[in-house]
Amino acid sequence: MSTLPVRHFLDIADHDAATLTAILTEARRRKAARVGLHKGVPDADKPLEGHVLAMIFDKQSTRTRISFDVGMRQLGGTTIMLTGGEMQLAREETIADTSRVISRYVDAVMIRLLDHEMVLDLAANATIPVINGLTKLSHPCQVMADLMTFEELKGPIAGRVVAWSGDANNTCTSWVHAAVKMGFSLRVAAPVELSARPALREWVKANKGDVVFTDNAETAVAEAECVISDAWVSMGDEDSTKRHNLLKPYQVNAKLMARADKDAIFMHCLPAHRGEEVTDGIIDGPQSAVWEEAENRLHVQKAILAWCLGKI
Ligand code: CP
Ligand code: NVA
Repeated sequence: MSTLPVRHFLDIADHDAATLTAILTEARRRKAARVGLHKGVPDADKPLEGHVLAMIFDKQSTRTRISFDVGMRQLGGTTIMLTGGEMQLAREETIADTSRVISRYVDAVMIRLLDHEMVLDLAANATIPVINGLTKLSHPCQVMADLMTFEELKGPIAGRVVAWSGDANNTCTSWVHAAVKMGFSLRVAAPVELSARPALREWVKANKGDVVFTDNAETAVAEAECVISDAWVSMGDEDSTKRHNLLKPYQVNAKLMARADKDAIFMHCLPAHRGEEVTDGIIDGPQSAVWEEAENRLHVQKAILAWCLGKI
């Protein structure tokens, strides 16, 4: 058996800029190589031929589920789709035992589970790579697609200014990780009640990151070349009315966007709640990069899979 460490992809914070850049470069290369091909045609080299990815979803998904499935097929591999409820996990088999067993059947696992600690436990007990497909704490595959999208449209992200407006949630946390690792400036505007956790702020400080935490959306977006929003009520959140009231001033609309750089792009991981965190005018307007961003989930996750399985 190999003694090399298992390559998990659990958080952007776990990786250095060289690894993240290698993944982004591979994603760009594979995307360019597919121009004109039908979605079901595999990539020429099929690096994951004979490999199986287990996908476990304890929560809903459109993009993550489809893009990992199609991506795995394009790399020459196959997938098994599972939901937490249909596994013995739902009858109290531990995540550690589940992990030990799955490791004997498949080559990698991608999991969407709100409990971040459980995903870490899965990885700690796995002899195969584990990929975080969203937890309550972070959404690293999404932000890798976002980095790819920014760089496609605006060039290298190092040294640039990006702004977040809304709940400092899981996607925001992965943006914070990315800002520190990739060396760009991030301004996070969130109401005090929904602002970044102290542990995340401490991590930024310890790593000398350029991240400003504020409750003022207008100052956060000033000069930003990218403005990002996300749902006001994420999966697992229960205080919907309170959140709507707190987050109203953080809506990305024409007035807020006008304060950003004149060529700023708008990003959102989707699904969007039109008229809440973003207006139709912005998400459907010329500054919106959301459809490219959604497509790039496919390309970047293929590169993540290839990296996890030692193909780059
Ligand atoms: N952005 C994202 O992860 O979308 P899904 O919830 O549809 O997978
Ligand atoms: N922040 C959102 C992202 C959905 C893809 C959520 O966790 O529900």
